[in-house]
Amino acid sequence: MTSHSYLSELFSLDDRVAVVTGGSSGIGRAIAGALARAGARVVIVARKEPELTATVDELATDGCRAAWVSADLSSRDRVRAAAEQAAEVFGEPDILVNSAGINLRPPMGELGEEVWDATMAVNLEAPYLLGQRFGPGMAERGFGRIIHVSSQQAHRAFVQSGAYGVSKGALESLARSQAEAWSPHGVTCNTLVPGFVMTPLNARFSSAPEKVAALAARTMVGRNGLAEDFAGAAVFLAGRGSGYVTGQAIFVDGGLSVH
Ligand SMILES: NC(=O)c1ccc[n+]([C@@H]2O[C@H](COP(=O)([O-])OP(=O)(O)OC[C@H]3O[C@@H](n4cnc5c(N)ncnc54)[C@H](OP(=O)(O)O)[C@@H]3O)[C@@H](O)[C@H]2O)c1
Repeated sequence: MTSHSYLSELFSLDDRVAVVTGGSSGIGRAIAGALARAGARVVIVARKEPELTATVDELATDGCRAAWVSADLSSRDRVRAAAEQAAEVFGEPDILVNSAGINLRPPMGELGEEVWDATMAVNLEAPYLLGQRFGPGMAERGFGRIIHVSSQQAHRAFVQSGAYGVSKGALESLARSQAEAWSPHGVTCNTLVPGFVMTPLNARFSSAPEKVAALAARTMVGRNGLAEDFAGAAVFLAGRGSGYVTGQAIFVDGGLSVH
């Protein structure tokens, strides 16, 4: 067997269909690009059309097949509608990536029900509802990959984790519950755990150079994360080669969590 066909067997996503929420920015955008370049047809879901269009255009320029659905994932009805729309583009997905997320950051003492509800809706309920919509079909077809994106704040308090950390802790629990339900049918469910990644989500925090440098020093690699750092791990978790990896939280954080 040549090395190319060996690698294809392990990692190629040819003939796969992926839905990536939050695929128009930051980590989700890097993951959508990685899956598309590895062969998958990718539907990205987020709200803002200019970013969605720009992402899909860039992928099309690279010869990838990609499309977008604009939807606000903060309401259950809109999540359900977005799932139907996404499945209409290239067919039912084999791969679901939940990267859409918000971090509103009020300290615990000031945390109100509105922020709590908004955080849980986007960070936890949307992944749950999309899993309920797509997981059983994946199981019936005998192959599926569900990949969530949580946070170091699922594991430790960090600059006002508030509702955000709670939502991410629950997201990792959701991955384990989904893994338990569907892994016997070829559907693995895992979580990628970022440390501190330079994306629009962190724009406010990133504008304090001394804080950014202090965080970089806490990693083992010696720098903060980049969205591109998630490409390899996402392709691995989406492909055939990771069929015996399920229910796991995989840290892509330069060693931050173990330093
Ligand atoms: N950056 C980090 O350091 C870091 C660390 C730990 C975990 N994470 C997690 O990684 C994931 C990606 O974060 P990122 O840093 O890449 O953030 P980002 O660049 O801000 O991207 C967030 C994405 O989610 C979409 N989104 C947000 N709210 C949405 C809504 N209501 N409905 C639909 N789409 C929505 C955004 O698009 P629209 O605004 O157009 O809707 C965008 O595509 C998140 O789950 C985040 O919690 C990030």
